[in-house]
This record gives sequence, C-alpha cells and structure tokens, in this order.
Amino acid sequence: MDYKREVELSTEYILEKIKDFQKVEVGLILGSGLGVLADEIENPVIIPYENIPNFPVSTVEGHKGQFVIGTLSDKIVMAMQGRFHFYEGYSMKEVTFPIRVFQALGIKKVILTNAAGGVNLEFKSGDLMIIEDHINFSFDNPLIGKNFSSMGPRFPDTSTVYKNYLIKIAEKSAKELNLDIKKGVYLFNTGPTYETPAEIKMARTLGADAVGMSTVPESIAAAHGGIDVLGISLITNMAAGILNQPLSHEEVVETANRVKLNFIKLVKKILFKLEVK
Ligand code: HPA
Repeated sequence: MDYKREVELSTEYILEKIKDFQKVEVGLILGSGLGVLADEIENPVIIPYENIPNFPVSTVEGHKGQFVIGTLSDKIVMAMQGRFHFYEGYSMKEVTFPIRVFQALGIKKVILTNAAGGVNLEFKSGDLMIIEDHINFSFDNPLIGKNFSSMGPRFPDTSTVYKNYLIKIAEKSAKELNLDIKKGVYLFNTGPTYETPAEIKMARTLGADAVGMSTVPESIAAAHGGIDVLGISLITNMAAGILNQPLSHEEVVETANRVKLNFIKLVKKILFKLEVK
C-alpha cells in the first residue's frame, strides 16, 4: 500500500470517530512535558494511536500516545499527546505521518511545540521561544522518495515555513500575558544524544538559538502540504557546555513541569486570537 493510501485509511478511521464535530481547525503537537495542555480540551474524543490503522506507536517516557480532539479556546483542535521522533527508529515518513493526517483532515494551521536546549547565551532555562526559522541538521528529509503531487510540490519553498502572521499573534499573546518571549532559529539534531559542547559552539556559529530533536521534520511536511506552522520551543535547559553540568532528560521534564502553566496560557491565548475559516 502506498503512503498516500495509508494516510487516507488512518484519516477515514479518525473521521468516523469525530463525525459529531464540525471541521477540525487547528492541529497541535505537544512536546516533552507539554502534553498536559491536551487535558484542558473540553468534551474530548480520545483516539489512542495504537487503534488507528497504519499509525506508528509512541514509546518515549512522558509521552502518552493519543490524539485528543475537542474544543480549546473556542477552536476545534486536534492535539497529539506524544509525537514520533526520528531517534526512536521511525522513518521520516512515519515521523511526519500525523501531519499528513492533519492535512487530509483539511487542517490549515498547526502549532508545533517542543522542549529544546538554549544555544543563545541570552536565554535561560524556562524561557519560551517562538521559532522564526530552522536548520535541518539531520541531513535527511521527510520528502525524500516518491512525491505525491496531490500532497504538495516536488521542490517546495521553505522560505516562510513559520508564518509571520502567526509569529505576530504569538508575540501579541505573550505581551498581553506579561510573558517574556524569545524568538529564534531552531536547529534539529537527530539525537538521542544531547550535543557535545563543540557541537553547540558550532550551532551558535551557524546561527542557531535553540537545539532539539523534533519539529523540523513535521514543519517540512506541513510546509509541503500547505499548512501554516507556528513553532514554540520551551527552553528546558541550557545546551551542552554552557553551564558546568551534564544534561539529563530529568532536567528537561522538571523544567517543562515548572513552566507548563505559562505555556498553557500562551497557547490558549494564541488559539483565541487565531482566525479560522
Ligand atoms: N539538546 C537537544 N534536544 C533537547 C535539549 C538539548 O539540549 N533539551 C531538550 N531537548
């Protein structure tokens, strides 16, 4: 079965589960420690990934592995509580499969979130960063292979993946909430190792402000599929070599827990301000 057909079958299954809803308006992908946002969704329909035909299954600690669909800030949203990472052994096509399902459902806007290490020396742990642009440092790409022209063009433009109007809405929302918000470039490494201090120095030289192990594959697939992306990184730690301490997943989860309320407030405010057709 080809990729396109797999996406169609997954989408058909999901559509049957959410047939009481009007059109889903916004897709949300929730990063490490940020899945709690989905608990705020009203009258949710929950669809475990394992029940969806052709769908990959999430394995990472702190990730639940289900779609939560319902109302959040007056919008009908479909949240991924737990995503698929390249470092788990999923192919780029599997990592971006959920984006293709969003696309097939007619979703035109996504908010992609992640936990990231701070590369910019002016950042501190707990900061939120709006992603302005990315560097794909994986030397792989989810669009390699047969192109389905009904999904998007062979050679897609990626000069405006992170839409300016969404960045403006996010900035305005942060301001209204009195939240200090950073903006910057997110560099994607495959992981699962955190970077070395030399790699972080390189990342900074290349123009990165934050590093992480997700989001870029999904952003690329979204751009290909004509979906507007807002990216938000939660800086859970300063990247390797900046502070005199080793990095750990525990620190990432701890920081996410510490600032998740701000994160939740911000995303809710952004959703309120989004105009959807
Ligand atoms: N590097 C890569 N990924 C991450 C980090 C980091 O420092 N923190 C959270 N995710």
